[in-house]
Amino acid sequence: MSLSALQASAYLHHLRFSSPQPEEIAKWYGDVMDMKMEQLPGDVWLTSGPARQVLFSKGEPKKLAHAGFAVRDAESLKGLHERAEETGLDPRNIDTPLFQHGAFAVTDPDGNAIYFGLAKSQMVRALKGIRGPIQHLTLATGDVQAIEDFYAGKLGFGVSDRVVNAEGKVMTCFMRGNHEHHNLACFYQERKGVDHHSYEAGEWDTIRDWADHFATHNVSLFWGPGRHGPGNNLFIFIEDPDGNWIEVSAELEVVHDRPVKIWPHAERTLNLWGRGVLRAK
Ligand SMILES: [Fe+2]
Repeated sequence: MSLSALQASAYLHHLRFSSPQPEEIAKWYGDVMDMKMEQLPGDVWLTSGPARQVLFSKGEPKKLAHAGFAVRDAESLKGLHERAEETGLDPRNIDTPLFQHGAFAVTDPDGNAIYFGLAKSQMVRALKGIRGPIQHLTLATGDVQAIEDFYAGKLGFGVSDRVVNAEGKVMTCFMRGNHEHHNLACFYQERKGVDHHSYEAGEWDTIRDWADHFATHNVSLFWGPGRHGPGNNLFIFIEDPDGNWIEVSAELEVVHDRPVKIWPHAERTLNLWGRGVLRAK
């Protein structure tokens, strides 16, 4: 039976970025994002913390090699694969270190490789470190509609919110594969790739702990603290040495069943508490 990403309970499990210096950037994530690092075959570096894993391999900076979404169980994976076939996404079988045999990949309209699979090990959840499961990926795209059509229309992610500018153009779309307000989003930009990825600290006090931890590594916040409108989450942002933007968030909205909200577009560079907050119509 064909199943949507929402029915399969898809959640962001891991990311893989390319970098000209994969070992160095893995070391940075190990220190700053409070993870352990290890080398895998093929000059790939894996960083692991409690419920968060990021891989790095040799290549151009600030480029997504793939995003890995895990699903609930084998039946969910089979159903989502069937849906990808039905909607013409041409799913291909892949072998990847963090998923069990049987994972598959699709490619979105901007060329981003998206993997779906079953998590290989639950041990990563037991690792010690500051709380912050990897939680969402936000893409940059010149065609928000095409990205929404792919992920929501073809794969069956749910749309939680859209941000629309004064001319009625959709600037941002927030999508979910489970009850989290978004574990995938896309922002309109004049480039393709990743805008940022995010870790969910859960509570405000844990954001404070992350900010203190960043300070001990001499890493400054470049945006926040603040609260987003869509998703209602508290946030801080830092940047890694390759220029990837990293968010630590808390109190992200839990969505069960509600209509899609439409939000007015506002400049998100505003950095004063309250002024960057988008209000729903
Ligand atoms: Fe975010």
